[in-house]
Order: sequence, then structure tokens, then C-alpha cells
Amino acid sequence: MTLRPPAATSLAADRRDADAKPIQVGLLGIGTVGSGTFNVLVRNQAEIRRRAGRGIEIAMVADLDTARAEAIVGERARVVGDARKVIANPDIDIVVELIGGYGIARTLVLEAIAAGKHVVTANKALLAVHGNEIFAAARDKGVMVAFEAAVAGGIPIIKALREGLTANRIEWIAGIINGTTNFILSEMRDKGLDFDVVLKEAQRLGYAEADPTFDIEGIDAAHKATIMSAIAFGIPVQFDKAHVEGITKLQAADIRYAEQLGYRIKLLGITKRRDNGIELRVHPTLVPARRLIANVEGAMNAVVVQGDAVGTTLYYGKGAGSEPTASAVIADLVDVTRLHTADPDHRVPHLAFQPEALADTPILPIDDVVTSFYLRLQVADQAGVLAKITGILAEHVISIDALLQRESGEGENKTDVIILTHDTVEGQMRRAIAQMQALPTVLAPIVSLRKEELA
Ligand code: HSE
Repeated sequence: MTLRPPAATSLAADRRDADAKPIQVGLLGIGTVGSGTFNVLVRNQAEIRRRAGRGIEIAMVADLDTARAEAIVGERARVVGDARKVIANPDIDIVVELIGGYGIARTLVLEAIAAGKHVVTANKALLAVHGNEIFAAARDKGVMVAFEAAVAGGIPIIKALREGLTANRIEWIAGIINGTTNFILSEMRDKGLDFDVVLKEAQRLGYAEADPTFDIEGIDAAHKATIMSAIAFGIPVQFDKAHVEGITKLQAADIRYAEQLGYRIKLLGITKRRDNGIELRVHPTLVPARRLIANVEGAMNAVVVQGDAVGTTLYYGKGAGSEPTASAVIADLVDVTRLHTADPDHRVPHLAFQPEALADTPILPIDDVVTSFYLRLQVADQAGVLAKITGILAEHVISIDALLQRESGEGENKTDVIILTHDTVEGQMRRAIAQMQALPTVLAPIVSLRKEELA
């Protein structure tokens, strides 16, 4: 077979494209990420144009604070107070939504799609909750909705999952995908402090929001895990089925005991393929201290992906911040610029799998999840107590991996018993805990945390 050389006209066509009018972008919201996007696009415009084959220009910016927006963009873009003026402008090719939340952002994204605009968004909450509706609307209109910045900020994890790992049957993903909570956990471990103390300090330093609920309750991480789960397993986004626990109840004592047993506690977003369904959960998790992800400190993010062909891969970087997130937004702008003239059927599907090939594999209820556990029981220091506890675990077919006994620091006749188990079905563990809790020699609420070996 003879391969034909590339058509002579293709070079000429490339040159024509490079001379073409820049693609026109309208920005909705110019806060931290918006200003980063504007600045990086201006700073790196020549390099970006060489990659995209055409210039990318933010022509319009909508923000309620028009004075602040004008101070950022100067004469280089038209500033308006009403986002709908951007959507209504026929010259705008791509709308970048950086408003956040599920409210007006949803309406504006759907209106932009209806107006035939491609959309780039960093809004994980919107996509985790309304993604199915938004992607369906985009398919009907033949436009792209790109969202690299929605998960793990500057880390190109969406690109990796949707394209780089496309040969693989993904087995599981585990990620530190919320910088605020990772910062708090790192501080708790380093300084031996309790959650409340560190949260106040994090707020004072600007690492945590004034209202940190979405971060510390695990909701932000669950939004991101939901999106990754859909892309990894070819299922619709199902945030309502995610099991979500934050770090607010975590105690310094458990971080200390975990350390003594060779583990670190991280808030992980986990999604896993199982024979009977898919696990989707966010919770504080013991991870062996020797794993790379256990050593991700401060506000950094990291995601581990296990694929059947590639094995384990790890992605690390800044999960938030002005220019790291702008890096992801602009990568999407370049993708849209390269692909907007392509037949919609030949673009990468929103959720990596062809829409008609999405599966209805169920998300498993938390009681059906399989994991190992860390238990801390404060017990009366007397004969036979340990035998009763291990007896209950044996009755529920829960095998013990390690056991530690330590002074509880709360009087001579009380002691802390710390148990690590092997894998068990969560429902079994809940029943065993209820039975152990009812023992008169168990003196305080039992602490239970999940453990993942990530092997
Ligand atoms: N608030 C998030 C974090 C960043 O702390 O990682 C945006 O999702």
C-alpha cells in the first residue's frame, strides 16, 4: 500500500488559519480565575496562537463589578454588567463561565448553548449536579462544553482520563482533590492540633473561605469525584448517589495513632469498579505513609488512577489558584479553537464514552462498599475486654490486621484500643460496631475510619 503525502494545500490552509481573525471569547465573571485567564492569555498569546493555529481573544467580559473588571482588562475588552449581553453577541464564539454555583450559572450556560456558543467552565458543582442536562443540550446544538478546570485545578486530569488513558479499563481512582482540607490535615499532623484550631488559622491565612462548608464537609471533593467517576466508567454524573463525609469530626488523637501504625489520614475522593456496581465516596481515609499520595502536603492536589494496561499513574499539582486554574481554562479554549470546525461526531465525547454507550451500572450504597477499617475504642482496662471485642469482630467475619493498646490519657482504668482490620463489607462493620458499642466496658463512642492500601 502506498501512503499519499499530505496534500500540498494543507500547509497553505494552516497559514490561512494562522492569519484568521482570533476566536472571540466572552468571559462571565472575572474574579480570581477570570483575571488569571485574561492575564495568561495576554502574556502567552504568541505561544498559544502557535499551538491553536489561531489567536484567542477575550473580547467581552461580564461582571457585576464593572469597575473592577475594567481595572483588570483596561481597553483590551468590552466590559458589561449583564452576562446576557455576552451570550447575545453573535461575534462571540466561546462563553467561559466562571461564576460558580448551581443557580444563575446553570441558566446562563444553557442559554449560551441554546445560542450556539461553545462553553468552557470551571464549575464542578454545576456539572456534578446538572451535567447530564447540560451535555445533552450541548449535543443537540452540536457545541462543546469543556471543563478541565473543574477537577483538580491546573492538573490535566480530565485530559488524562478522557484521552491519555483511553485504552484502559479503569479500575479505580483515588484523589486528594480539595486543597483546603489537605492543608488543614497537613497542619493537624505537623502541629498535633485539633481541627477547629487549624481551620481558624487557615481562614486567617486565606487558605480557607469565610464559609468553608463545601470544602470541609467534603462536598467540593464529591463534585470532582462524581465527574471523574462518570468519565472513568462511562456512566452519567450522579452526585446524589455519592457518599460524602468531611473532616470536621477528625480528632488529633487518630492522626497520631494512624502515624504510629504507619498511615496518614487524607480526605480522598474514591471511585472504584466492582463486580456489582461502582463505589463513589469521599471521606477521611488512612493511607500507608509510604505511598506517594500520602506525602502530598499543604494545599496541593494529587490523583492516582489505576488502569488495567497502564498500571498505576499519579497526577500532582496545584488544585486551585488564579493562574494554575487559568492554565486548565486556556487548555480548553485551545481545544475548542482547534476542534470547533470539526464534525461534532468526531470530537471527544463530553464524558469520554459515546453518549449512547453510557452504562446504567449502579452506584453502590455505602453499606455495600468493601474496605478495611481503623477503629479506636476507649475501654475499661480490665480482664476479658479485648476478648469480647475480638469475639464480636470474628462473629462478623472481620479479620484483624493490627492491634495497638495505648494509655487514653483519661485516667488509669481506661485505655485506648486501636484496631486495623482487613477488607470487609461496610454493612458488616456497622453491625459489629453497634454490638461493640453496646458493651458496658466500651466507655466512649467508637471512632471508625476507612483505610485504603491503594496497592
Ligand atoms: N476550594 C477548592 C479547594 C478549590 O480547596 O481545593 C476549588 O474547587
